[in-house]
Amino acid sequence: MAETDAPNAWDDSSSQDLRTTAAPFRLLQLTDLHLFGVSERRLLGQDTQRTLESVLALAQARHWPPDAIVLSGDLVHDTEPAAYRFLRERFSGLGVPYHCIPGNHDRLDLLVGHLDASAVSGLRVVAADAWDLLLLDSTIPNEAGGHLSDSVLAGLAAHRRAAGERPTLVFLHHHLQPLGSRWIDTMQVDNGAAALAELAQNPRIRAVICGHVHQDAEQHARGLRLLATPSTCVQFLPGSDDFALDSRTPGYRWLELYPDGHLETGIVRTDAYPEPLTLVTGGY
Ligand SMILES: [Fe+2]
Repeated sequence: MAETDAPNAWDDSSSQDLRTTAAPFRLLQLTDLHLFGVSERRLLGQDTQRTLESVLALAQARHWPPDAIVLSGDLVHDTEPAAYRFLRERFSGLGVPYHCIPGNHDRLDLLVGHLDASAVSGLRVVAADAWDLLLLDSTIPNEAGGHLSDSVLAGLAAHRRAAGERPTLVFLHHHLQPLGSRWIDTMQVDNGAAALAELAQNPRIRAVICGHVHQDAEQHARGLRLLATPSTCVQFLPGSDDFALDSRTPGYRWLELYPDGHLETGIVRTDAYPEPLTLVTGGY
């Protein structure tokens, strides 16, 4: 069955009686949109607005409506205010709350000014029914790699001490530990070990979820579940020492956050690219 032909798993219209107090908070993560201010521009041969639209159409067919959407960085490739404004119009038009964190290609001031006024440099806590979402800014201005500031680490510790029993998800743009792809691993959080040491002290954290690596990945470290999510545009080849594109298609992550602390999550990808993919090499 084609992905787009599968039923909408989150359609309650015919089963309202199943929406009980045990119903989950339903969340989507879209990441690494890499939009351009001038729509004719391409990223490695792809029109990133078209790939985003293909992913949104798939989400609206398969997991809709979500209770919220997290956009986890690299939202705009060329730091054009027009691209942030486009995203604000597109996502506010969906009628779903959305929460943004910056990636290395973003400019936080433009993201805050034109897309999400509540995005911050540092740590932000967003309540998701019985859960907390911790949204971290892992960017270093004008650098591709990431870092978690002392204030973010202190904020994680403060949340650990103060948040009672609330199950928690952590979102950030960069990955915290190597994925096994040399060129990508030069751009991880440079103090990932310190971050993992702090996060590992918090048993309420159900997963730490990133973008940035343009691939689906799951790792386990220090008792933590580390997840990475495909881009809504081009994908990077897992395990490659040097830059290489993967033929896998764009996608998104769905998450169901149950009141008892249980997490269900998965990846859904489109059937095909809107335009033929050329597996170009040599740079990103
Ligand atoms: Fe990216």
